[in-house]
Amino acid sequence: MMLIDILTIFPEMFAGVVNTSILKIARQKKVVEIAVHNIRDWSTDKHHKTDDAPYGGGPGMIMTCDPVFRAVEAVKAGERKDSHLVLLTPQGRTFTQKMARELSQKSGLMLICGRYEGFDERIRTGLGPDEISVGDYVLSGGEIAAMAVMDAVVRLLPGALGCEASTADESFENGRLDYPHYTRPPEYRGMKVPEVLLSGHHAEIEKWRLEQAHRRTQERRPDLSAEREDTAAGSNARNGKSAD
Ligand code: ADE
Repeated sequence: MMLIDILTIFPEMFAGVVNTSILKIARQKKVVEIAVHNIRDWSTDKHHKTDDAPYGGGPGMIMTCDPVFRAVEAVKAGERKDSHLVLLTPQGRTFTQKMARELSQKSGLMLICGRYEGFDERIRTGLGPDEISVGDYVLSGGEIAAMAVMDAVVRLLPGALGCEASTADESFENGRLDYPHYTRPPEYRGMKVPEVLLSGHHAEIEKWRLEQAHRRTQERRPDLSAEREDTAAGSNARNGKSAD
């Protein structure tokens, strides 16, 4: 079972996500244990402060070292001593499906969510966390980023999803986007399901899906690795097709 600890000053934000859908089922099936900790509980200040004004002046408040260090030390004990420490920050490496796969191999994750204008730099230098960003935009805090990372990781854990095969084909797993999906009815408001999908011809369906996935990736995300490799290998038949 993977152990996930969240360190935040807004623990209440996590109630919805950990009690819904895949995360809820994974917890019930003991695939993962998720504990949410309030950093404020480790503040020794009489008002339980976790922030202060920046040295050198400037706008905003900075997350102070002591409550974060204490929280990490208290939580990272016993069976959690090998937990992988992650700091959610827009300055981290950008999160990808490959990183989600890598993190899913860890015995535990400790996700530290920042607030305010930023962290005291000594949280980075002193704790040496794996710094992760969920994208080139700024959130009000690391919580939503931590939820994204946690969700992407937990659904990859064996037993989390009903069907293990369901993650293998998805967008990004093969360095390309997913193919389009259809379900009943065969025609909706004049829009028809592609004939091949109704044909029952499995080899043809497989071929169509692969072509669609390539076309989509070329059009929308030519930067993804499988497409770059294909292009480098000189396979421009598909490139030609996607220019339709
Ligand atoms: N905190 C604020 N913005 C963030 C981002 N883009 N990724 C991770 N943590 C953040």
